[in-house]
Amino acid sequence: MWLKSQILLLYCIASEVWMAKRLDARRNLTKELYSLEDSGSAKWNRLKRSLYQGKSCRIRGCCTGRNDDCSFNIASRAAICYCDQFCASGPPGPIDCCADYWDACENAVEPTRSDEPWPPPASGCYKDGRYYGEGAIIKDNCNSCKCVQSNWKCSNEVCLVRPDLIHHINSGDYGWKADNYTQFWGMTLEEGFRKRLGTLPPSHSLLNMKAIPGSSVPEEKFPEFFAATYAWPDWIHDPLDQRNCGASWAFSTASVAADRITIHSDGQITDNLSVQNLISCDTGNQRGCNGGSIDGAWRYLTTHGVVSYACYPSFWKHHLDSPSENQCYVSSEYGKNHTNGPCPNALEDSNRLYRCGSHYRVSSKETDIMEEIMAKGPVQAIMKVYEDFFLYKEGIYRHSYKAGSKWKTHSVKLLGWGSLPGKNGQKQKFWAFLN
Ligand SMILES: *[C@@H]1O[C@H](CO)[C@@H](O)[C@H](O)[C@H]1NC(C)=O
Ligand SMILES: *[C@@H]1O[C@H](CO)[C@@H](O)[C@H](O)[C@H]1NC(C)=O
Ligand SMILES: *[C@@H]1O[C@H](CO)[C@@H](O)[C@H](O)[C@H]1NC(C)=O
Ligand SMILES: *[C@@H]1O[C@H](CO)[C@@H](O)[C@H](O)[C@H]1NC(C)=O
Repeated sequence: MWLKSQILLLYCIASEVWMAKRLDARRNLTKELYSLEDSGSAKWNRLKRSLYQGKSCRIRGCCTGRNDDCSFNIASRAAICYCDQFCASGPPGPIDCCADYWDACENAVEPTRSDEPWPPPASGCYKDGRYYGEGAIIKDNCNSCKCVQSNWKCSNEVCLVRPDLIHHINSGDYGWKADNYTQFWGMTLEEGFRKRLGTLPPSHSLLNMKAIPGSSVPEEKFPEFFAATYAWPDWIHDPLDQRNCGASWAFSTASVAADRITIHSDGQITDNLSVQNLISCDTGNQRGCNGGSIDGAWRYLTTHGVVSYACYPSFWKHHLDSPSENQCYVSSEYGKNHTNGPCPNALEDSNRLYRCGSHYRVSSKETDIMEEIMAKGPVQAIMKVYEDFFLYKEGIYRHSYKAGSKWKTHSVKLLGWGSLPGKNGQKQKFWAFLN
């Protein structure tokens, strides 16, 4: 709550500063004529003046360049208007010019008027210098604001991108930097959790799965840095964009499986695997773009297998966003090496199915995970995601506690590890992953 009201407050201050600047940018005349106490009414005075209907420049004559004496006093309105060229140039625009400036002064070309309303309305709201009428509804990041009795009334959602949190992280000592991602702007935190992640917490059966023991190689025997992308260049598949489909269960599984198949086949098979095949066809206990379990995904890869990405591309027929239309476009049978029909994407001939042997769990010991990655390729990991993770840009991510303690689970592909010297020279170890 506190953070939310602070954002709103900052916005109000920002808009007032902006108006004051806009007025200052011009001449010194404001002092007697306009009260700056109320920047709103000063603004209206400027507007009124600009629209004075009388003859001014025709009487006063026109001036070139800037000439502050080249003005006309409109006594009835307690205002001054100008007939010099300067009135039509620079900020805040042509609102200082006398009404007949455009007709009376040679070569003056009337610029498009700003969209300020006239006559000035008794009510309404401003945002970023734009006027909105009573009842107008606009979006302010993830919140929707309505203009009620000249004030914005906004919804109170927590946004996924919080400028204050970005600032907090970037000015703090967290070891990583935050950024504003266009694709997350305007989303609520809740939407981010729901649409950008999508892996269920590990099930009981997954947690109870016996971990295969590692050979307890001491840590010194491992290289300081390791990245699957260097060990097997060209064989590690880039992550595919999940967009607003909360199906990281399928994206991470297909990505790890594709790497493992390529490494296992010594580069004979390099196809990307179809995530859509998993999302749309593995529907037993899975919920497509609303989340699923990774053990379910691996079981499907063992029993049914999936086709290549080229055969069944992501977001095929645009139905992925709407779960009710999550229709499966391939049919596969146990033990068959090809689907029953051609590829959904008619340009691809190969309807070959890729299967995996049964999945297994690696022990949680760091060196056992390192040993597995080095010997056989990337592994999949389930991680807790806090809201600050959506802002991650570079560095070694660690959760900053100001970001709140809400989290959801996500699955990623671990590619390797490394370490960097920390601020005090101590070793900071990290995992490298793609998501
Ligand atoms: C505006 O104010 C500045 C500084 O106070 C002064 O130097 C300048 O002459 C003033 N201009 C006019 C037109 O009064
Ligand atoms: C973040 O990015 C969006 C979209 O590009 C932009 O509209 C918004 O002003 C940015 N916010 C900040 C705080 O930089
Ligand atoms: C896999 O997908 C990536 C990204 O779309 C693409 O660059 C790459 O060529 C694909 N690989 C194969 C073997 O199709
Ligand atoms: C499926 O492919 C495997 C490996 O290439 C092969 O051993 C097997 O005979 C094939 N099965 C059928 C039914 O074609």
